[in-house]
Amino acid sequence: MSEGYTVAVVGAGLVGERLVAELRRRNFPLKELRVLARSARTAVLDGETFEVGVAEPEAFEGVDIALFAGTEGEKGAAVQLAREATARGAIVIDNGSDFRLEPDVPLVVPEVNADAAREHDGIVANGNCSTIQMVVTLAPIARQFGLKKVVVSTYQAVSGAGRSGVEALENGQGDAFPKPIAGNAIPLIGGIGEDGYTSEERKMKLESRKILGLPDLEVHATAVRIPVHTGHSESIYIETEKEATLEGVLKALRSAPGVTFSGDANDFPTPLETAGEPGVFVGRVRVSGNAIEYWCVSDNLLKGAATNAVQIAETLVGAKV
Ligand SMILES: NC(=O)c1ccc[n+]([C@@H]2O[C@H](COP(=O)([O-])OP(=O)(O)OC[C@H]3O[C@@H](n4cnc5c(N)ncnc54)[C@H](OP(=O)(O)O)[C@@H]3O)[C@@H](O)[C@H]2O)c1
Repeated sequence: MSEGYTVAVVGAGLVGERLVAELRRRNFPLKELRVLARSARTAVLDGETFEVGVAEPEAFEGVDIALFAGTEGEKGAAVQLAREATARGAIVIDNGSDFRLEPDVPLVVPEVNADAAREHDGIVANGNCSTIQMVVTLAPIARQFGLKKVVVSTYQAVSGAGRSGVEALENGQGDAFPKPIAGNAIPLIGGIGEDGYTSEERKMKLESRKILGLPDLEVHATAVRIPVHTGHSESIYIETEKEATLEGVLKALRSAPGVTFSGDANDFPTPLETAGEPGVFVGRVRVSGNAIEYWCVSDNLLKGAATNAVQIAETLVGAKV
């Protein structure tokens, strides 16, 4: 396979387009790149014209890696087709939530648990967007000080809900959100459960525990949609096992892979400035005894989806992380 890999991108939406862009930008060793969706058509993704094929079982013949970015659920691409792809020899990397918590499916954020990617039986899951950026910053703090409790409030962009989310902000169209999003803040992302938590809030708790390998970690999340196009922001409060110092936290964050951090207290990242950048950005760090607080921003379509998925693919083929 020295000449590269045959890769299928399933889904030609916001994440599908970023997957194509990240495969190109990171020089993933490609022999062939196929784009599949519900309907066949000619589509321009990241400036490149593709003959989009229909996502059906036969389309995965000869595919080495299938990057899934279709919609979730029973009728979604991953539930319908992931096992069809693995039966034909492909490794599936899924951006959706359908398989993330299955015990045999590794849930991987390469900066945190790259080794887990190799223990798969055909499917590797990409984390939820708001969870990925959080665990990239939690991991170095966990290593240094131990984690007791995490409390997070999110400020999530409309593109996190796909094309229909962007339409809702730009044209006030569709039913992507339960209330108008322009000029608003909506504290409800996903379905609400009997316990009052939304599916997005549950994902942040359960996925963080799995990725960090801390099954008892206390995580309390409040997920809020705001009228920002791209880039999720988070206010994170942590209680640590060991007493922390500002100097120690800054050092841990500075040396953490994937984290861009400005030590200037007046300099803080915003979604507008960091959209289009593949990393995780941290600012406003405050430390008081066992409590650490900071602000964290990342492009939900890149590190929150496409960049992380391509990094997993690189881990699997041993290219680079
Ligand atoms: N947006 C984010 O920030 C983000 C972050 C992390 C993870 N994700 C996950 O990534 C996935 C894609 O999100 P998105 O934002 O790119 O959504 P999107 O813009 O709405 O695009 C969805 C794409 O999926 C395709 N699709 C839907 N059902 C399919 C099926 N059964 N077979 C094949 N293709 C199918 C659609 O095909 P057609 O074009 O033919 O209709 C469309 O191209 C979702 O699972 C989402 O939860 C999204």
